Amino acid sequence: MKRTLGVCYYPEQWSEDMWASDAARMADLGLTWVRIGEFAWKRMEPVEGQYDWAWLDRAIDVLGQAGLKVVLGTPTATPPAWVVAKHPDMLAVDAQGNTRGYGSRRHYCFSHRGYLEECRRIVRAMAKRYGRNPHVAAWQTDNEYGCHDTVLSYSDAARSGFQDWLRRQFPAAQSACGNDGDIDALNAAWGNVFWSMDYDSFEQIGLPNLTVTECNPAHVHAFRRFSSDQVVAFNAAQVEILRAHTDAPIAHNYMGRVTEFDHFKVGADLDIASWDSYPLGFLEDRVGAPAASQAAYARQGDPDFQAFHHDLYRAVGKDGRWWIMEQQPGPVNWAPYNPSPLPGMVRLWTWEAFAHGAEAVCYFRWRQAPFAQEQMHAGLLRPDSVEAEAFGEAGEVMAELADAAEVSHVQAPVALMFDYDADWAWAVQPHGAGLSYFGLVFDWYRACRKLGLSVDILPPTARDFAGYALVLVPGMMHMPDDLKHALNNAEAEVILGPRSGARDADFNIPVPLPPAWPGSDVTVSRVQSLRPDTPIALDGGGAVTGYVEQIEGGGDVILRSVDGAPIAVRCGARVSYMAGWGDDTAHVHLIETVAADLPCQRMPEGLRRRDTGCEEFWFNYSSQDIEFEGETIPSAGVVRRAR
Ligand code: GAL
Repeated sequence: MKRTLGVCYYPEQWSEDMWASDAARMADLGLTWVRIGEFAWKRMEPVEGQYDWAWLDRAIDVLGQAGLKVVLGTPTATPPAWVVAKHPDMLAVDAQGNTRGYGSRRHYCFSHRGYLEECRRIVRAMAKRYGRNPHVAAWQTDNEYGCHDTVLSYSDAARSGFQDWLRRQFPAAQSACGNDGDIDALNAAWGNVFWSMDYDSFEQIGLPNLTVTECNPAHVHAFRRFSSDQVVAFNAAQVEILRAHTDAPIAHNYMGRVTEFDHFKVGADLDIASWDSYPLGFLEDRVGAPAASQAAYARQGDPDFQAFHHDLYRAVGKDGRWWIMEQQPGPVNWAPYNPSPLPGMVRLWTWEAFAHGAEAVCYFRWRQAPFAQEQMHAGLLRPDSVEAEAFGEAGEVMAELADAAEVSHVQAPVALMFDYDADWAWAVQPHGAGLSYFGLVFDWYRACRKLGLSVDILPPTARDFAGYALVLVPGMMHMPDDLKHALNNAEAEVILGPRSGARDADFNIPVPLPPAWPGSDVTVSRVQSLRPDTPIALDGGGAVTGYVEQIEGGGDVILRSVDGAPIAVRCGARVSYMAGWGDDTAHVHLIETVAADLPCQRMPEGLRRRDTGCEEFWFNYSSQDIEFEGETIPSAGVVRRAR
């Protein structure tokens, strides 16, 4: 399959006499894909039950006649005012109990049954009309589940949905209607004897907000699981309808560092995973890098954040199929600061996505809108239709694609497990300010990249590790026994991270104490979190910061503190346990020591490598040219070599 480019377009936002020339310019640029429709509900159905498809028919036709393939989005992220007027209680409620307002987007609660029915109706109508349209070559469900903090809702609909969900989690042994729950089982599992929290019935269970002090972590964690399942079900409802009317692949556009729902579970119902990559937009709030690094990469983006998500979504997509549905083309409007990318970065970001296996990269958006919320968001064209900077860079990539390899997937030497359930567990009980599972996993990923290693991200359900030299499993708070055994029997070196197996499935500390590793006596006897300004220095360099465990037992010590406390130890023939949150130096040292056979190569600051099997890529994220292996890699430049 060829690597392709595309763009996001909103025909409803422009006068119809511009469509044909827009389509011709897209085709001239060499674009394959044009994504449309995802916010146009009001134009499709101005009044309940009265559809207006004529304009969309014409738009699809104009784009298709120009040779473009349409990705058609379902418009359920933007229910029009009449839908909200009909279902006033469909709006989500935030943790403070405030109803979230109408007037932007994503103003719905995933648990509201009436809204779900409205979605089914509009999706069915679209699917019937366009499911066999020859120009509609792919579909997108909704837009960016979870964006603007929209997974967790504390509405009445969520409360009754949560109670039903809990009944199913704790089914009664003998239930007359098949729908009863065993409240005693729930009380026992959650430890509700503590503070007299035992419930008499499921109807008494509320949502875990507005409590006087901390709510039971088991309760909060269950609510997080429920909320994720609501997103999965919402998406599945649309997919089921679309599949009845189309054979085109179905995608959703995920985001960077949105972890409130399990993307692997949503992805299991879809054909293609895609994500919206805004490297400069994400730099300040999402990456969590120190201020100095934010300054150094202000116009390039973090050197690892995009790649992490490329690798994550390759794992989420069926058979590794993934796209960039929205690529930042210039300054955006929504981050704390919105600088211009360095010249060359749009090309670099595009190539980096291809290097990680993307089938398509679509730029957001075709033309900058002179109205409404995103007036200050660049596009490939300026509002006056003159080419903006990114237009030229997209053209450069287009020319380079002519002699480039096709989409390819090769197994990386390193696997890194990512578990959304663990992310919720850390969020429920971080134990120290700023500690997050995503942050921990990302730090381990960064260490691999600093060693020039390509990485595959694996879902928590992976049990086959054949072909990997190194498998990394940091911070997975609940580890089922079969996973422990699969890792213990793997041919690869395995490194477990802090808090591995620290909780059972119901959020209790297991006994024997964690990590309870098969065949090992390593025991976490005490845990502590650290102020950021009190790191513990390690022998041989580096430190642990934020979080560290006291461990007993185990075999050889791999890392120890300058005071002699073991920090990383062997706990199996090929398994090691890292008992703290290391800095980059510590992680790099750990990986180099444990996986001595891996072809590790320390990268100069800002340089990153990716190996696709048939090509080797070097990406220079720094603002300086870099001399490496006899080659000058320009700042914001890409070097691509066939292998
Ligand atoms: C994305 C969203 C787009 C647009 C874009 C602006 O999060 O999907 O619709 O708002 O951000 O950067």
